[in-house]
Amino acid sequence: MFRIVRKEELRPTVTLYEIEAPLVAKKAQPGQFIILRVDEQGERIPITINDYDPDKGTVTIIVQTVGATTEKLKQLQQGDCLQDFVGPLGKATETEGKKKVCVVGGGVGCAIAYPVLKKFHDDGAEVHAVVGFKNKDLVILEDDFRKSSDVLKICTDDGSYGQKGLVTDALKELIDAGNQYDEVFAIGPMVMMKFVSKTTEPYGIPTTVSMSPIMIDGTGMCGGCRLSVGGEMKFACVDGPDFDGHKVDWDLAVKRNQMYQAFEKHKYEETCN
Ligand code: FES
Repeated sequence: MFRIVRKEELRPTVTLYEIEAPLVAKKAQPGQFIILRVDEQGERIPITINDYDPDKGTVTIIVQTVGATTEKLKQLQQGDCLQDFVGPLGKATETEGKKKVCVVGGGVGCAIAYPVLKKFHDDGAEVHAVVGFKNKDLVILEDDFRKSSDVLKICTDDGSYGQKGLVTDALKELIDAGNQYDEVFAIGPMVMMKFVSKTTEPYGIPTTVSMSPIMIDGTGMCGGCRLSVGGEMKFACVDGPDFDGHKVDWDLAVKRNQMYQAFEKHKYEETCN
């Protein structure tokens, strides 16, 4: 069993869990994910790792309550245990050898962007970060981002905090100001990653996206995370989650991402109401 040693509600629908899982913590790398089950009857859900502490033997995940399983998870308290917590899975994000990078995070995707950004920083790169949220109340991990970034731009849709507007506008401003990035790394809603890739393409800036939002069971068996990348079929959970954003067929990916929303909503209502 995997004990929750810390539970912190970052926002009403966004919760941080620090889980005792020494074997996972020992091997975890930024960009990788775990699969958890809340209880014996629970479904398996993949969650990308937010942080890990091999000395303490803990792994931190940040979870947005979006469906039945994440709601069940939210009902657990500090000291309670998860049935399963398996990982780390997926390929780690490549962070070595970069001089200057920009990490773009959107919403709860910032939980995944943070360990990648920190690793770029620890590996010696100059790190710029652009993070976007709907409004001030939804901003998460600001202090963490500030500690590991040389430049931080916070954007909100309604202008209630930081710069008003989209992360793509802020990214374009940084590029047009003469910042020459070796790489842009983006994680957030599918549409955001699509437009980050479209923004960097004319400049020829290599762009990596994390396709973890499309994963369903994370095991390579359900086929739900199938993507077309450079004309080849890939599975986000087995071949990724990181891919070249300029090669992803975004129309297909966005469509696939929306496929299970109605089912998830129905399941949520059935389980939680
Ligand atoms: Fe099911 Fe990748 S998430 S096959």
